[in-house]
Amino acid sequence: MRAVQAPIIPITAEMIRAHPGTISLGQGVVSFGPPRQAIAALASFSGGLEDHHYGAVEGTDALVEALRAKLESDNAIRLDAASRIVVTAGANMAFMNAILAVTDPGDEVILQSPYYFNHDMAITMAGCRMVPVATDANYQLLPDAVRRAITARTRAVVTISPNNPSGAVYPEAAVREINATCADRGVYHIHDEAYEYFTYEDARHFSPGSIPGAAAHTISLFSMSKTFGMASWRVGYMIVPARLFESINKIQDTILICPPLVSQHVALAALRVGSGYCRAKVAELASVRKMVLAAFDGISDLCTVPRPDGAFYCLVRVHLPLDPLTLVERLIRDHRVAAVPGTAFGLDGCHLRVSYGALDAHTVEEGIQRLVGGLRAISRQV
Ligand SMILES: Cc1ncc(COP(=O)(O)O)c(C=O)c1O
Repeated sequence: MRAVQAPIIPITAEMIRAHPGTISLGQGVVSFGPPRQAIAALASFSGGLEDHHYGAVEGTDALVEALRAKLESDNAIRLDAASRIVVTAGANMAFMNAILAVTDPGDEVILQSPYYFNHDMAITMAGCRMVPVATDANYQLLPDAVRRAITARTRAVVTISPNNPSGAVYPEAAVREINATCADRGVYHIHDEAYEYFTYEDARHFSPGSIPGAAAHTISLFSMSKTFGMASWRVGYMIVPARLFESINKIQDTILICPPLVSQHVALAALRVGSGYCRAKVAELASVRKMVLAAFDGISDLCTVPRPDGAFYCLVRVHLPLDPLTLVERLIRDHRVAAVPGTAFGLDGCHLRVSYGALDAHTVEEGIQRLVGGLRAISRQV
């Protein structure tokens, strides 16, 4: 475990606690909770004793069937006997299940850099080697570089779109290219779609699981944490090639036994409300995003913000000769605003991940003003 990086959020949270009044632009959560219909459904839980026993390892039939319909309507993924849906305790668990199922210790898994830190952590915990492949200056995929990084030990290529930490949305053609490369080279394509509805302007979400013939080598990960504001309920799901089901079943039976029935009950009611719930929130976030980007435009001499078309993150390249954790400490101590240092995502140089999804628009605006003012002030001191 010493080889596994320490999760960064609790570290910055400690600094924030020590400086009351700090606005955190660090947390990767949404500012809304589940639909009221989902909470209302709690009243109908716990009718019978079976609600208090263990459920099926892969999730309740009712939820799996509802997910099947959702995947068809929202993601154009038509599942047949070649694939299985497994409900998990969140997309992080789905990722860990996938890594344990497809690797042996010593194998390699390719991540796009900057990467999501829990993916790096999961791969290291499984005794595997995380191979980072750089993205371009706009944090977009470099399929040739991915191809070059595949070796005889590679078991999977991981992509996330819309992306955490960069907010990049990968175009359909690039996702297809990676998926086809994985098929050619006999490795799995693990695609994380936790932010599937969080796209802005012309960006479109694309699910590689919808590609004909992709079912045999594609593992798609989804989450209810962001889309339905259900982070604490711990519900995610994965689509896996049917031949992996037995392995996933062993892993999940050992770690979780079953996803909590109460959470699945609430998730089912949320799914019945549908994606419109999240899309309305994303429409509101769109103007917050515009405000954030405009504020950064005003200090373009100090930083560059590659265009984030999705999720609710900007990954800011700061042109200051500072270690990003030191910069974050100074921003919290002297300017009462927090962001996440880019080192957590495997980036060299000075980067900050700024999240604009967790707070109301007014507080984000105040936080961004503090951040912009803080960067300006710090730039005069270094
Ligand atoms: C890309 C990505 N995948 C997965 C997760 C975790 O999702 P869950 O709460 O479903 O485990 C996050 C959370 O920030 C994320 O950014």
